[in-house]
Amino acid sequence: MVRLSSQRSENMKVLIVGSGGREHAIAWSVAKSPKVDKIYCAPGNAGISEYAECVDIGAMEFEKLADFAEQNSVDLTIIGMDDPLVGGVVDVFEARGLKVFGPRKNAAILEGSKAFSKDLMKKYGIPTAGYENFDDPEKALDYLHTQAKFPIVLKADGLALGKGVLICNTLEEAEAGVRDIMEDKKFGSAGNTMVIEEFMTGREVSVLSFVDGKTIRPMTSAQDHKRAKDGDQGLNTGGMGSVTPVPFADEVFMEKVRTRIIEPTINGLKEENITYKGFIFLGLINVKGEPMVIEYNVRMGDPETESVMLRIQSDLVELLEGTAAGNLNEKTLVMDPRSAGCVILVSGGYPEAYEKGFPISGLEQAAATDSIIFHAGTAMKDGQVMTNGVLHLGLLKDQPPIPLLYHNRKLFFQLP
Ligand code: AMP
Ligand code: GLY
Repeated sequence: MVRLSSQRSENMKVLIVGSGGREHAIAWSVAKSPKVDKIYCAPGNAGISEYAECVDIGAMEFEKLADFAEQNSVDLTIIGMDDPLVGGVVDVFEARGLKVFGPRKNAAILEGSKAFSKDLMKKYGIPTAGYENFDDPEKALDYLHTQAKFPIVLKADGLALGKGVLICNTLEEAEAGVRDIMEDKKFGSAGNTMVIEEFMTGREVSVLSFVDGKTIRPMTSAQDHKRAKDGDQGLNTGGMGSVTPVPFADEVFMEKVRTRIIEPTINGLKEENITYKGFIFLGLINVKGEPMVIEYNVRMGDPETESVMLRIQSDLVELLEGTAAGNLNEKTLVMDPRSAGCVILVSGGYPEAYEKGFPISGLEQAAATDSIIFHAGTAMKDGQVMTNGVLHLGLLKDQPPIPLLYHNRKLFFQLP
Protein backbone atom coordinates (compact mmCIF):
# COMPACT_ATOMS: atom_id res chain seq x y z
CA MET A 1 0.00 0.00 0.00
CA VAL A 2 1.23 3.52 -0.82
CA ARG A 3 2.10 5.39 2.38
CA LEU A 4 0.15 8.58 2.69
CA SER A 5 2.37 11.66 3.11
CA SER A 6 3.89 12.04 6.56
CA GLN A 7 2.90 15.74 6.65
CA ARG A 8 -0.62 15.17 7.89
CA SER A 9 -2.43 18.26 9.16
CA GLU A 10 -5.33 16.27 10.59
CA ASN A 11 -5.73 12.59 11.12
CA MET A 12 -8.88 12.10 9.11
CA LYS A 13 -10.22 8.69 8.25
CA VAL A 14 -12.21 8.44 5.04
CA LEU A 15 -14.41 5.60 3.78
CA ILE A 16 -15.18 5.41 0.05
CA VAL A 17 -18.12 3.27 -1.06
CA GLY A 18 -17.81 1.61 -4.46
CA SER A 19 -15.50 -0.61 -6.48
CA GLY A 20 -15.01 1.00 -9.86
CA GLY A 21 -12.53 3.18 -11.70
CA ARG A 22 -14.46 6.18 -10.39
CA GLU A 23 -13.87 5.17 -6.78
CA HIS A 24 -10.20 4.44 -7.52
CA ALA A 25 -9.85 7.95 -8.97
CA ILE A 26 -11.60 9.44 -5.92
CA ALA A 27 -9.28 7.43 -3.63
CA TRP A 28 -6.25 8.66 -5.59
CA SER A 29 -7.37 12.26 -5.12
CA VAL A 30 -8.31 11.82 -1.44
CA ALA A 31 -4.89 10.24 -0.82
CA LYS A 32 -3.27 13.53 -1.92
CA SER A 33 -5.05 15.46 0.84
CA PRO A 34 -2.79 16.34 3.76
CA LYS A 35 -5.84 16.04 6.02
CA VAL A 36 -6.24 12.31 5.55
CA ASP A 37 -4.16 9.55 7.06
CA LYS A 38 -6.35 6.50 6.50
CA ILE A 39 -8.61 5.50 3.62
CA TYR A 40 -10.98 2.55 3.60
CA CYS A 41 -12.90 1.41 0.55
CA ALA A 42 -15.94 -0.86 0.58
CA PRO A 43 -15.76 -3.15 -1.29
CA GLY A 44 -12.87 -1.66 -3.38
CA ASN A 45 -10.71 -3.54 -5.91
CA ALA A 46 -7.10 -4.57 -6.50
CA GLY A 47 -6.03 -1.10 -7.66
CA ILE A 48 -7.77 0.80 -4.89
CA SER A 49 -5.92 -1.34 -2.33
CA GLU A 50 -2.83 0.68 -3.25
CA TYR A 51 -4.28 3.63 -1.32
CA ALA A 52 -7.03 2.17 0.78
CA GLU A 53 -7.73 -0.77 3.01
CA CYS A 54 -10.47 -2.65 1.18
CA VAL A 55 -13.33 -3.74 3.39
CA ASP A 56 -15.55 -6.64 2.42
CA ILE A 57 -18.92 -4.88 2.74
CA GLY A 58 -21.22 -4.41 -0.25
CA ALA A 59 -22.34 -0.94 -1.34
CA MET A 60 -25.99 -1.80 -0.57
CA GLU A 61 -25.31 -3.02 2.98
CA PHE A 62 -26.13 0.35 4.55
CA GLU A 63 -26.27 -0.66 8.22
CA LYS A 64 -23.04 -2.65 7.95
CA LEU A 65 -21.33 0.31 6.27
CA ALA A 66 -22.55 2.63 9.02
CA ASP A 67 -21.46 0.11 11.71
CA PHE A 68 -18.01 0.03 10.12
CA ALA A 69 -17.81 3.84 9.96
CA GLU A 70 -18.83 4.10 13.61
CA GLN A 71 -16.53 1.36 14.89
CA ASN A 72 -13.52 2.72 12.98
CA SER A 73 -14.14 6.41 13.79
CA VAL A 74 -14.47 7.32 10.12
CA ASP A 75 -14.68 11.11 9.75
CA LEU A 76 -16.19 11.22 6.26
CA THR A 77 -17.83 8.62 4.04
CA ILE A 78 -17.97 9.30 0.29
CA ILE A 79 -20.60 7.49 -1.74
CA GLY A 80 -19.45 7.01 -5.34
CA MET A 81 -22.27 4.97 -6.84
CA ASP A 82 -25.88 5.68 -7.81
CA ASP A 83 -27.61 2.58 -6.36
CA PRO A 84 -26.79 3.22 -2.70
CA LEU A 85 -27.58 6.94 -3.06
CA VAL A 86 -30.97 6.25 -4.62
CA GLY A 87 -31.53 3.58 -1.94
CA GLY A 88 -30.99 6.10 0.86
CA VAL A 89 -27.55 5.28 2.28
CA VAL A 90 -26.98 8.94 3.16
CA ASP A 91 -30.14 9.01 5.29
CA VAL A 92 -28.95 5.92 7.20
CA PHE A 93 -25.58 7.54 7.95
CA GLU A 94 -27.11 10.89 8.91
CA ALA A 95 -29.65 9.25 11.22
CA ARG A 96 -26.69 7.80 13.10
CA GLY A 97 -24.86 11.13 13.23
CA LEU A 98 -22.18 10.06 10.74
CA LYS A 99 -20.68 12.53 8.28
CA VAL A 100 -21.36 11.47 4.69
CA PHE A 101 -20.97 12.96 1.22
CA GLY A 102 -23.82 12.58 -1.26
CA PRO A 103 -27.47 13.52 -1.75
CA ARG A 104 -30.17 12.11 0.52
CA LYS A 105 -32.77 9.73 -0.85
CA ASN A 106 -35.32 12.48 -1.50
CA ALA A 107 -32.74 14.31 -3.68
CA ALA A 108 -31.20 11.22 -5.31
CA ILE A 109 -34.63 10.61 -6.88
CA LEU A 110 -33.43 13.09 -9.50
CA GLU A 111 -31.50 10.14 -10.96
CA GLY A 112 -33.67 7.39 -9.47
CA SER A 113 -36.82 8.42 -11.32
CA LYS A 114 -36.75 9.84 -14.82
CA ALA A 115 -40.48 10.63 -14.55
CA PHE A 116 -39.77 12.73 -11.43
CA SER A 117 -36.89 14.56 -13.09
CA LYS A 118 -38.92 15.29 -16.25
CA ASP A 119 -41.81 16.68 -14.16
CA LEU A 120 -39.38 18.83 -12.17
CA MET A 121 -37.84 20.22 -15.37
CA LYS A 122 -41.27 20.98 -16.81
CA LYS A 123 -42.44 22.72 -13.64
CA TYR A 124 -39.34 24.91 -13.38
CA GLY A 125 -38.83 25.64 -17.07
CA ILE A 126 -35.56 23.71 -17.45
CA PRO A 127 -34.81 22.96 -21.12
CA THR A 128 -35.33 19.30 -22.01
CA ALA A 129 -37.13 17.18 -24.61
CA GLY A 130 -40.95 17.19 -24.66
CA TYR A 131 -42.33 14.03 -23.00
CA GLU A 132 -45.18 12.08 -21.43
CA ASN A 133 -44.99 9.70 -18.45
CA PHE A 134 -46.90 6.39 -18.48
CA ASP A 135 -47.64 3.71 -15.93
CA ASP A 136 -50.02 1.80 -18.20
CA PRO A 137 -48.58 0.08 -21.30
CA GLU A 138 -51.89 0.37 -23.20
CA LYS A 139 -51.84 4.15 -22.79
CA ALA A 140 -48.20 4.25 -23.92
CA LEU A 141 -49.06 2.22 -27.04
CA ASP A 142 -52.04 4.44 -27.73
CA TYR A 143 -49.79 7.51 -27.50
CA LEU A 144 -47.33 5.92 -29.94
CA HIS A 145 -50.14 5.29 -32.44
CA THR A 146 -51.68 8.72 -32.23
CA GLN A 147 -49.00 11.27 -31.37
CA ALA A 148 -45.48 9.93 -31.82
CA LYS A 149 -42.89 11.31 -34.24
CA PHE A 150 -39.94 9.06 -35.07
CA PRO A 151 -37.24 8.53 -33.98
CA ILE A 152 -38.63 8.52 -30.46
CA VAL A 153 -36.99 7.78 -27.11
CA LEU A 154 -38.37 5.32 -24.53
CA LYS A 155 -36.96 5.36 -21.00
CA ALA A 156 -37.54 3.03 -18.09
CA ASP A 157 -38.21 5.30 -15.12
CA GLY A 158 -35.79 3.75 -12.63
CA LEU A 159 -32.12 2.76 -12.51
CA ALA A 160 -31.30 0.16 -15.17
CA LEU A 161 -27.48 0.02 -15.19
CA GLY A 162 -27.47 2.72 -17.86
CA LYS A 163 -29.36 0.45 -20.25
CA GLY A 164 -32.97 1.55 -19.81
CA VAL A 165 -33.06 3.94 -22.78
CA LEU A 166 -34.29 2.80 -26.19
CA ILE A 167 -34.11 4.97 -29.29
CA CYS A 168 -36.74 3.67 -31.71
CA ASN A 169 -36.82 4.57 -35.39
CA THR A 170 -40.17 3.00 -36.24
CA LEU A 171 -43.57 2.41 -34.67
CA GLU A 172 -42.89 -1.35 -34.63
CA GLU A 173 -39.62 -0.88 -32.72
CA ALA A 174 -41.32 1.44 -30.25
CA GLU A 175 -44.21 -0.98 -29.68
CA ALA A 176 -41.71 -3.76 -28.98
CA GLY A 177 -39.84 -1.38 -26.66
CA VAL A 178 -42.96 -0.61 -24.61
CA ARG A 179 -43.60 -4.34 -24.23
CA ASP A 180 -39.96 -5.01 -23.26
CA ILE A 181 -39.93 -2.26 -20.66
CA MET A 182 -43.44 -2.36 -19.20
CA GLU A 183 -44.79 -5.87 -19.80
CA ASP A 184 -41.75 -8.17 -19.97
CA LYS A 185 -39.92 -6.03 -17.38
CA LYS A 186 -36.61 -6.30 -19.19
CA PHE A 187 -35.23 -3.72 -16.74
CA GLY A 188 -37.14 -5.08 -13.76
CA SER A 189 -39.21 -2.73 -11.63
CA ALA A 190 -37.35 0.22 -13.23
CA GLY A 191 -39.92 -0.24 -16.01
CA ASN A 192 -43.08 0.08 -13.89
CA THR A 193 -43.26 3.62 -15.17
CA MET A 194 -41.93 4.83 -18.49
CA VAL A 195 -41.08 8.15 -20.10
CA ILE A 196 -41.63 8.63 -23.82
CA GLU A 197 -39.77 11.67 -25.11
CA GLU A 198 -38.79 13.52 -28.23
CA PHE A 199 -35.50 12.66 -29.89
CA MET A 200 -33.01 15.54 -29.76
CA THR A 201 -30.16 15.97 -32.23
CA GLY A 202 -26.81 17.48 -31.25
CA ARG A 203 -23.50 16.74 -29.58
CA GLU A 204 -23.56 15.37 -26.08
CA VAL A 205 -21.59 16.78 -23.18
CA SER A 206 -21.60 16.26 -19.43
CA VAL A 207 -21.14 19.00 -16.84
CA LEU A 208 -19.99 18.08 -13.33
CA SER A 209 -20.45 20.26 -10.25
CA PHE A 210 -20.41 20.33 -6.48
CA VAL A 211 -23.60 21.58 -4.80
CA ASP A 212 -24.01 22.14 -1.04
CA GLY A 213 -27.71 23.01 -1.04
CA LYS A 214 -27.06 26.69 -1.84
CA THR A 215 -23.68 27.16 -3.48
CA ILE A 216 -23.00 25.62 -6.89
CA ARG A 217 -19.38 25.05 -7.95
CA PRO A 218 -19.21 23.85 -11.53
CA MET A 219 -16.04 21.80 -12.05
CA THR A 220 -15.85 21.29 -15.77
CA SER A 221 -17.29 19.61 -18.84
CA ALA A 222 -16.47 16.05 -19.91
CA GLN A 223 -17.51 13.55 -22.51
CA ASP A 224 -17.45 9.79 -22.49
CA HIS A 225 -17.20 7.47 -25.47
CA LYS A 226 -19.73 4.71 -25.58
CA ARG A 227 -19.01 2.43 -28.53
CA ALA A 228 -16.84 -0.63 -27.88
CA LYS A 229 -14.58 -0.44 -30.92
CA ASP A 230 -12.36 2.11 -32.61
CA GLY A 231 -13.93 4.41 -35.19
CA ASP A 232 -17.23 4.63 -33.25
CA GLN A 233 -18.03 1.01 -34.09
CA GLY A 234 -19.35 -1.84 -31.97
CA LEU A 235 -21.88 -2.08 -29.18
CA ASN A 236 -22.68 0.62 -26.65
CA THR A 237 -20.78 0.15 -23.39
CA GLY A 238 -20.63 1.72 -19.96
CA GLY A 239 -17.97 4.01 -21.47
CA MET A 240 -14.66 3.23 -23.22
CA GLY A 241 -12.94 6.45 -22.29
CA SER A 242 -13.46 10.09 -21.49
CA VAL A 243 -12.05 13.52 -22.17
CA THR A 244 -12.23 16.78 -20.25
CA PRO A 245 -12.86 19.62 -20.97
CA VAL A 246 -15.04 19.46 -24.08
CA PRO A 247 -13.97 22.13 -26.58
CA PHE A 248 -17.47 23.30 -27.62
CA ALA A 249 -18.54 23.75 -23.99
CA ASP A 250 -17.04 27.24 -23.90
CA GLU A 251 -17.67 29.93 -21.28
CA VAL A 252 -20.91 31.09 -22.90
CA PHE A 253 -22.26 27.53 -23.02
CA MET A 254 -21.19 26.79 -19.42
CA GLU A 255 -22.86 29.98 -18.21
CA LYS A 256 -26.10 28.90 -19.90
CA VAL A 257 -25.78 25.52 -18.17
CA ARG A 258 -25.33 27.20 -14.79
CA THR A 259 -28.10 29.78 -15.05
CA ARG A 260 -30.68 27.85 -17.08
CA ILE A 261 -30.16 24.35 -15.71
CA ILE A 262 -28.16 23.89 -12.51
CA GLU A 263 -29.51 26.90 -10.58
CA PRO A 264 -33.18 26.33 -11.47
CA THR A 265 -32.79 22.62 -10.66
CA ILE A 266 -31.36 23.25 -7.19
CA ASN A 267 -33.80 26.08 -6.51
CA GLY A 268 -36.73 24.04 -7.87
CA LEU A 269 -35.82 21.18 -5.55
CA LYS A 270 -35.68 23.67 -2.68
CA GLU A 271 -39.23 24.78 -3.57
CA GLU A 272 -40.19 21.12 -3.23
CA ASN A 273 -38.53 21.06 0.23
CA ILE A 274 -35.58 19.01 -1.04
CA THR A 275 -32.03 20.08 -0.20
CA TYR A 276 -29.53 18.87 -2.77
CA LYS A 277 -26.00 18.20 -1.53
CA GLY A 278 -23.35 16.26 -3.40
CA PHE A 279 -22.01 15.94 -6.90
CA ILE A 280 -24.39 16.71 -9.71
CA PHE A 281 -23.50 15.39 -13.12
CA LEU A 282 -25.71 16.56 -15.98
CA GLY A 283 -26.05 14.64 -19.20
CA LEU A 284 -26.69 17.36 -21.79
CA ILE A 285 -27.09 17.74 -25.50
CA ASN A 286 -26.08 20.85 -27.38
CA VAL A 287 -28.98 21.69 -29.67
CA LYS A 288 -27.80 24.58 -31.87
CA GLY A 289 -25.80 26.14 -29.02
CA GLU A 290 -28.54 25.62 -26.42
CA PRO A 291 -27.93 23.10 -23.63
CA MET A 292 -30.84 20.67 -23.12
CA VAL A 293 -30.99 18.08 -20.35
CA ILE A 294 -30.90 14.40 -21.28
CA GLU A 295 -30.58 13.17 -17.70
CA TYR A 296 -29.44 13.98 -14.20
CA ASN A 297 -26.94 11.89 -12.28
CA VAL A 298 -26.48 12.36 -8.56
CA ARG A 299 -22.87 11.16 -8.52
CA MET A 300 -19.77 11.53 -10.65
CA GLY A 301 -19.63 9.75 -14.01
CA ASP A 302 -17.57 6.68 -14.68
CA PRO A 303 -15.24 7.01 -16.66
CA GLU A 304 -15.58 10.83 -16.57
CA THR A 305 -14.22 10.94 -13.00
CA GLU A 306 -11.00 9.23 -14.02
CA SER A 307 -10.05 12.15 -16.24
CA VAL A 308 -11.72 14.97 -14.25
CA MET A 309 -9.93 14.03 -10.99
CA LEU A 310 -6.59 14.60 -12.70
CA ARG A 311 -7.55 18.23 -13.20
CA ILE A 312 -8.69 19.05 -9.66
CA GLN A 313 -5.77 20.90 -8.12
CA SER A 314 -7.51 21.86 -4.88
CA ASP A 315 -7.81 19.54 -1.91
CA LEU A 316 -10.76 17.29 -2.82
CA VAL A 317 -11.42 16.47 0.84
CA GLU A 318 -11.86 20.18 1.66
CA LEU A 319 -14.43 20.43 -1.14
CA LEU A 320 -16.28 17.29 -0.07
CA GLU A 321 -16.39 18.41 3.55
CA GLY A 322 -17.56 21.89 2.50
CA THR A 323 -20.30 20.35 0.38
CA ALA A 324 -21.49 18.10 3.19
CA ALA A 325 -21.33 20.90 5.78
CA GLY A 326 -22.98 23.54 3.57
CA ASN A 327 -20.00 25.92 3.48
CA LEU A 328 -18.78 25.29 -0.05
CA ASN A 329 -18.70 29.08 -0.56
CA GLU A 330 -15.62 29.15 1.70
CA LYS A 331 -13.75 26.54 -0.35
CA THR A 332 -11.64 27.07 -3.43
CA LEU A 333 -11.87 24.91 -6.50
CA VAL A 334 -8.93 25.26 -8.87
CA MET A 335 -9.00 23.18 -12.03
CA ASP A 336 -5.90 22.48 -14.11
CA PRO A 337 -6.64 24.25 -17.42
CA ARG A 338 -4.96 21.44 -19.34
CA SER A 339 -6.96 18.62 -20.84
CA ALA A 340 -7.05 15.07 -19.54
CA GLY A 341 -8.19 11.84 -21.11
CA CYS A 342 -8.78 8.27 -20.14
CA VAL A 343 -8.85 5.12 -22.22
CA ILE A 344 -10.19 1.81 -21.05
CA LEU A 345 -8.96 -1.72 -21.55
CA VAL A 346 -11.49 -4.47 -21.48
CA SER A 347 -11.46 -8.22 -21.85
CA GLY A 348 -12.25 -9.52 -25.34
CA GLY A 349 -16.02 -9.93 -25.74
CA TYR A 350 -17.03 -6.96 -23.55
CA PRO A 351 -19.77 -5.67 -23.30
CA GLU A 352 -21.22 -9.11 -23.97
CA ALA A 353 -20.15 -12.23 -22.07
CA TYR A 354 -16.40 -12.46 -21.50
CA GLU A 355 -14.01 -14.63 -19.54
CA LYS A 356 -12.35 -13.50 -16.33
CA GLY A 357 -9.20 -14.39 -14.45
CA PHE A 358 -6.44 -13.48 -16.94
CA PRO A 359 -3.24 -11.85 -15.70
CA ILE A 360 -2.76 -8.17 -16.53
CA SER A 361 0.82 -7.27 -17.32
CA GLY A 362 2.58 -4.01 -18.10
CA LEU A 363 1.09 -2.10 -15.17
CA GLU A 364 4.46 -1.25 -13.62
CA GLN A 365 5.86 0.02 -16.91
CA ALA A 366 2.77 2.12 -17.54
CA ALA A 367 2.85 3.51 -14.00
CA ALA A 368 6.46 4.60 -14.56
CA THR A 369 5.25 7.04 -17.25
CA ASP A 370 3.06 10.08 -16.65
CA SER A 371 0.00 7.85 -16.94
CA ILE A 372 -2.03 6.87 -13.96
CA ILE A 373 -3.77 3.54 -13.91
CA PHE A 374 -7.18 3.28 -12.32
CA HIS A 375 -8.70 -0.15 -11.91
CA ALA A 376 -12.23 -1.42 -12.23
CA GLY A 377 -13.04 -5.09 -12.06
CA THR A 378 -9.58 -6.33 -11.14
CA ALA A 379 -8.58 -8.77 -8.44
CA MET A 380 -5.28 -9.75 -6.85
CA LYS A 381 -4.26 -13.41 -6.92
CA ASP A 382 -0.90 -14.47 -5.46
CA GLY A 383 0.46 -10.95 -5.92
CA GLN A 384 -0.63 -10.79 -9.56
CA VAL A 385 -3.35 -8.39 -10.77
CA MET A 386 -6.02 -10.37 -12.64
CA THR A 387 -9.06 -9.46 -14.70
CA ASN A 388 -12.16 -10.01 -12.60
CA GLY A 389 -14.92 -7.98 -14.15
CA VAL A 390 -15.56 -5.31 -16.60
CA LEU A 391 -12.49 -3.21 -17.11
CA HIS A 392 -9.39 -1.54 -15.98
CA LEU A 393 -8.25 1.82 -17.09
CA GLY A 394 -5.16 3.61 -18.31
CA LEU A 395 -5.12 7.30 -17.73
CA LEU A 396 -3.23 9.83 -19.74
CA LYS A 397 -2.63 13.46 -19.31
CA ASP A 398 -1.33 15.77 -21.99
CA GLN A 399 0.44 13.08 -23.89
CA PRO A 400 -0.48 10.94 -26.85
CA PRO A 401 -2.40 7.83 -25.89
CA ILE A 402 -0.41 4.70 -25.26
CA PRO A 403 -1.49 2.04 -27.73
CA LEU A 404 -3.40 -0.53 -25.77
CA LEU A 405 -3.35 -4.11 -26.84
CA TYR A 406 -5.40 -7.14 -26.10
CA HIS A 407 -3.37 -10.08 -27.26
CA ASN A 408 -3.36 -13.81 -26.71
CA ARG A 409 -6.13 -13.39 -24.12
CA LYS A 410 -3.90 -11.17 -21.99
CA LEU A 411 -4.17 -7.47 -21.53
CA PHE A 412 -1.07 -5.34 -21.66
CA PHE A 413 0.06 -1.82 -22.37
CA GLN A 414 2.48 -1.22 -25.17
CA LEU A 415 4.59 1.73 -24.23
CA PRO A 416 5.63 4.22 -26.89
P1 AMP B 1 -29.44 8.19 -20.55
O1 AMP B 1 -29.38 6.81 -19.95
O2 AMP B 1 -30.64 8.98 -20.17
O3 AMP B 1 -28.12 8.90 -20.45
O4 AMP B 1 -29.57 7.96 -22.11
C1 AMP B 1 -28.61 7.19 -22.79
C2 AMP B 1 -28.31 7.82 -24.10
O5 AMP B 1 -29.47 7.87 -24.91
C3 AMP B 1 -27.84 9.26 -24.00
O6 AMP B 1 -26.49 9.36 -23.72
C4 AMP B 1 -28.20 9.77 -25.39
O7 AMP B 1 -27.21 9.37 -26.31
C5 AMP B 1 -29.45 9.03 -25.72
N1 AMP B 1 -30.66 9.82 -25.44
C6 AMP B 1 -31.39 9.84 -24.31
N2 AMP B 1 -32.43 10.69 -24.42
C7 AMP B 1 -32.35 11.23 -25.66
C8 AMP B 1 -33.14 12.17 -26.40
N3 AMP B 1 -34.25 12.70 -25.87
N4 AMP B 1 -32.75 12.49 -27.63
C9 AMP B 1 -31.65 11.93 -28.20
N5 AMP B 1 -30.87 11.03 -27.57
C10 AMP B 1 -31.22 10.68 -26.30
N1 GLY C 1 -20.38 7.57 -18.06
C1 GLY C 1 -21.76 7.69 -17.84
C2 GLY C 1 -22.19 7.53 -16.45
O1 GLY C 1 -21.41 7.39 -15.52
O2 GLY C 1 -23.41 7.55 -16.21
